[in-house]
Amino acid sequence: MESKILLAIVLNFVISSGEVASQESATSAQLVNFTLYMESLCPDCVDFFRDQLSPAFDAVGSIMNLFVVPYGKATQQQHGDRWHFECQHGKKECYWNVIETCAIHFHPSSTVYFPFIKCIESSTALLPYIAPLCAMFQGLDYYQIQSCAGSRLGNSLEHQMGLKTEALNPPLDVVPWVTLNGVHTDEIQAQALTNLTKLIYDTYLGTRKPPAC
Ligand SMILES: *[C@@H]1O[C@H](CO)[C@@H](O)[C@H](O)[C@H]1NC(C)=O
Ligand SMILES: *[C@@H]1O[C@H](CO)[C@@H](O)[C@H](O)[C@H]1NC(C)=O
Repeated sequence: MESKILLAIVLNFVISSGEVASQESATSAQLVNFTLYMESLCPDCVDFFRDQLSPAFDAVGSIMNLFVVPYGKATQQQHGDRWHFECQHGKKECYWNVIETCAIHFHPSSTVYFPFIKCIESSTALLPYIAPLCAMFQGLDYYQIQSCAGSRLGNSLEHQMGLKTEALNPPLDVVPWVTLNGVHTDEIQAQALTNLTKLIYDTYLGTRKPPAC
């Protein structure tokens, strides 16, 4: 039994070392582009973060380009030089959408913004207290994110999230909504909601498959 485990560890090491070498030649174009269109307070989005996206990020994050678009079923209207948003779960949702959008703006690497957004999505009840802690855990400057959310910058960034969402074809009619390498089909959506890790893994054609699968 013990020798089997030892063998597994050694094999795993040999395989991983091979991977390190091939990582150098892998280009980011080979990574699977996965985009999540969501809204901050939607219960199904909370479930998706917990049940699919977080485990997938851990297991196959290294072969995936993750993009998160916090806007969902919101609508936008120009009022003077600002955009006014209406959100499915009210003003609070609009606010937390912009907080997430600003975090993505300041920390475009998913390894930084994703744990922050995941933390927010895991505790949507007491967000005014939790969000600063989420930032602190990740070493992010919450004051910067918060200031952005109330500023013209945050307003304009959220408008961009709205444009990305409105550009979807087919158009978004449910959240969470996903695209895989820019494509949305019922099949992709169903697979993402059932086993996102498997979907990303099966889609990846590059040479640096994570040993976890
Ligand atoms: C993923 O997105 C990047 C740019 O964001 C693009 O260059 C690349 O071709 C895309 N990959 C696939 C497989 O669609
Ligand atoms: C998802 O698929 C992977 C790879 O096929 C498998 O190991 C894992 O158990 C599946 N997870 C669920 C929740 O079905």
